[in-house]
Formats: sequence, structure tokens, C-alpha cells
Amino acid sequence: MSTAKKQYKRVTVKSLTEMKKNDEKISMITAYDYTMAQIVDHSEIDVVLVGDSASNVMAGHETTLPITLDQMIYHASSVIRGIQRALVVVDLPFGSYQSDPKEALRSSIRIMKESGAHAVKMEGGKEIKDSIKRILKAGIPVMGHLGLTPQSIYKFGTYTVRAKEEYEAKKLKEDAKMLERIGCFAIVLEKVPAKLAKEVAESVSIPVIGIGAGGGVDGQVLVIHDMLGMNKEFSPRFLRRYADLHTVMTDALKQYKDDVKSQKFPDENEQY
Ligand code: KIV
Repeated sequence: MSTAKKQYKRVTVKSLTEMKKNDEKISMITAYDYTMAQIVDHSEIDVVLVGDSASNVMAGHETTLPITLDQMIYHASSVIRGIQRALVVVDLPFGSYQSDPKEALRSSIRIMKESGAHAVKMEGGKEIKDSIKRILKAGIPVMGHLGLTPQSIYKFGTYTVRAKEEYEAKKLKEDAKMLERIGCFAIVLEKVPAKLAKEVAESVSIPVIGIGAGGGVDGQVLVIHDMLGMNKEFSPRFLRRYADLHTVMTDALKQYKDDVKSQKFPDENEQY
């Protein structure tokens, strides 16, 4: 049985606003390739994020900084081929939008044109306001991203909870209002106190989608490898593991290896 309040054949940025109005929580998950995207879409997840977390979980980098625009476009176009229903949002990677609005627009146009994605996501508040406005003016929907912004890891030095201090909380609230005012269709809020996240969600009409931001926001996002338990090392408090694919996969692979070594695979039904 579906837990959705309304059935959507295709999720658009307008559907998300409607979901918030109807008090229906938004489900969002990352994906980086065609096969995963198909599984995610068959599960009727509302939003697929081609996150720059691909830099960590797909390429094994320590941070999100090394991933390039070309690599994001490659991941995004693979995902798009597996999606029929979900809204697909793509992260603008580090270095593709920070220098000026023209560069930000050029990068966004490349993502939209070359991958077929539906929207872009950008980390930051008033520092990147002009770039967001320029992209929006070109008709490209923008999702904001506030709180913990992993592309600025070297500025902050840690991945700990953000906006615990009053002055940070004040800036975050101002940034969220600004993103709403200039026309962003949604905001991701990462790793901030639940009370503050709820306050922010209640202060804007656009959906606020949280990761490590508690249940008082309008939706949730997780990295797919983390929530499926493919990654044993990463276990922050906010993460709920819905499966233990690491164990399932290693057990299957060990069984395969043993069957090959003991000549149990293939048998006569598995040959021509
Ligand atoms: O890149 C990513 O996966 C993200 C999510 C953690 C929101 O930005």
C-alpha cells in the first residue's frame, strides 16, 4: 500500500511545493548510475540527487572537492536514463560555480543540456546569491544547500553539526529566507540542530529537505550507499541503515568464489 497522499506520474518542482502544502513528506535519495537509478525509481522515491558525494562513494576520495563537472555530467546522464518518475537534481561540483555568475550559468547549462537533468543544487547562502539568480533567470530550477556544506570542509575543518551558535543560526535563517525570496524551489539542510531546522522549515513556503536535521522538516535525504549499509565505516548518528548490503554482497561473492574453486559453478544447466 502506498503511503503517498497523492499519486504523481512525474514529480516536478511544483509537485514538491504541493507536497509541502499537503503535509506530505518528501523522499529523496542519491544515485549515481543507471541500475541504481532504476531501482530507486521503481521504489517511487520522489527526488533523486546526483550528489557530489559520488566523489566519496563512487571514486573513493576523502572529500567532495575533486569531482569534476564532466564527471558529474557522466553520472547524471547515466541516472537520467534510469528514471521515469522522479525529479532529478544534480550537484554543481566545487569549482564550477564559485568564481562568478557567468561561470555558474555555463556549468548549469552544461548539466541540463548534456545530462537531461531537471534541476541543479548549490551549496551556500548570500555569498552565491548573484550566481543563483543568474541561473534562475535562465529558467533552470535551483535547490539550495545550507548548514553543513561539504565543499567548504577546509574552511571549517570538521564535519560536525553546524549552526549551534546563535550568530550561525541567525545567518542560516536569513539565508533560507533569501533563497526562498529569489526563487529556489527547495533547500537541503544538512546536520543542524533539529529545533532550528524545524524553525527554518516553518519560516519558508518552499520545502526544506533534511539530512541529520531531525523530523520537523519537509522531507529527508540520505546517501544510498549509506542507507543500504554498503559502507561499514560511516556511521553518523543521523544515519538509519535499511539493509546490510555489505554482508549480503560479501556473502554472495564468497559463495561464488567457493563454487568456482570447487567447480560447483557452472553446472550442466548453466552451460550451452
Ligand atoms: O552530495 C550529496 O550527496 C549531498 C547530500 C548529502 C545532501 O549533497
